[in-house]
Amino acid sequence: MVKIRKTKKSELKKLARFMKEEFGRSPYYEKWTDKTSMDKIKEYDKLYNIHVAFVNKKIAGFVVSLLECYYDANKIFIHELVVGKKFQGKGIGKSLMREIEKVGKKKKADTIYLMAMKKAPAYKFYGKIGFKENKTITMEKKIK
Ligand SMILES: CC(C)(COP(=O)(O)OP(=O)(O)OC[C@H]1O[C@@H](n2cnc3c(N)ncnc32)[C@H](O)[C@@H]1OP(=O)(O)O)[C@@H](O)C(=O)NCCC(=O)NCCS
Repeated sequence: MVKIRKTKKSELKKLARFMKEEFGRSPYYEKWTDKTSMDKIKEYDKLYNIHVAFVNKKIAGFVVSLLECYYDANKIFIHELVVGKKFQGKGIGKSLMREIEKVGKKKKADTIYLMAMKKAPAYKFYGKIGFKENKTITMEKKIK
């Protein structure tokens, strides 16, 4: 049974560890340290909403989202979704995203947006739960 609620400050350290571990692996190989991952989570806590999933009172994963208002409707942007290795494949990612859909509907949002790497397993996961590619692409310009 998965329980989901907004995070508490006392949980941020654990979320940082999840982020460091899960994005340190294939296909991401991101080099987060204890400090940089904690700084990132603190930034998320300050600027966005963090929902945490619990299984038997243990943290199993979290999702970071932002509700933005646009001229026509509100929109939700997913900034991070992480399920701990031990808890993957048990429906927790799906439950977290379903919770965001619930929150979004309550706040009169019409769409959820996110970025995903096409080659990452998460791409298939997002497809499974109803996400489709749209016509927008990410553009970048290196300045260093
Ligand atoms: C991607 C991630 C969030 C998925 O969460 P999860 O809890 O393992 O996924 P769920 O168990 O809720 O899976 C939901 C559905 O997606 C499918 N799915 C999950 N991972 C999949 C994969 N790698 N390939 C294909 N299908 C997948 C499941 O089979 C399930 O399908 P079903 O409803 O038909 O049974 C999780 O694996 C994760 O945190 N990975 C590391 C970090 C990451 O990649 N985050 C996303 C960054 S954009």
